[in-house]
Amino acid sequence: MKKHLTIVDHPLVQHKLTLMREKSTSTASFRQLLREISLLLAYEVTRDLPITMTTVETPLMEMEAPVLKGKKLALISILRAGNGLLDGVLELIPSARVGYIGLYRDEETLQPVQYYFKVPKELENRTVIVVDPMLATGNSSAAAISLLKQAGANDIRFLCLLAAPEGVRRMEEAHPDVRIVTAALDERLNEKGYILPGLGDAGDRMFGTK
Ligand code: URA
Repeated sequence: MKKHLTIVDHPLVQHKLTLMREKSTSTASFRQLLREISLLLAYEVTRDLPITMTTVETPLMEMEAPVLKGKKLALISILRAGNGLLDGVLELIPSARVGYIGLYRDEETLQPVQYYFKVPKELENRTVIVVDPMLATGNSSAAAISLLKQAGANDIRFLCLLAAPEGVRRMEEAHPDVRIVTAALDERLNEKGYILPGLGDAGDRMFGTK
């Protein structure tokens, strides 16, 4: 049985996350910190990727050395806040294929509504990493993963910056096969579906909107 939730408790991740939570942190710093933290989270979410051996010739001799096995990864960004995490992950895995899912949250029902879906071909043969900074109610993440499964994906991981217990439970129920990697598990959601203590609206803080 795979571990469902991984909290990346590395000091650098925790330090950067604290700076991101602070409300006086500027948009530019928030974006830069998110890019840095996403590199570290990407390292964790990919740590069990299968490898195979290949022959290389060093300047001194031939050797058998490990390389990543199999097809290219697919990174799926849940618009729009997912793009902040995507940039850093892509820096670490530049050959990954990239897809986008556009979902917005109905403010009344908190249910996800789809407006965009464009993903790489042959998802069934790829390791798929879904990126979205905030796992709040889990409704849009669970819906996005259902869409990806309908499109053939069968090896999916979910990468976020912050998770609420409600979102983790929702994902566990809907998609027990999907491992979640996050920098922190916060206390709870408020009545508007925001994570507490959280960091506010990740999209607004990243893009300087309100
Ligand atoms: N989305 C956000 O950007 N922030 C939250 O706290 C919850 C959902």
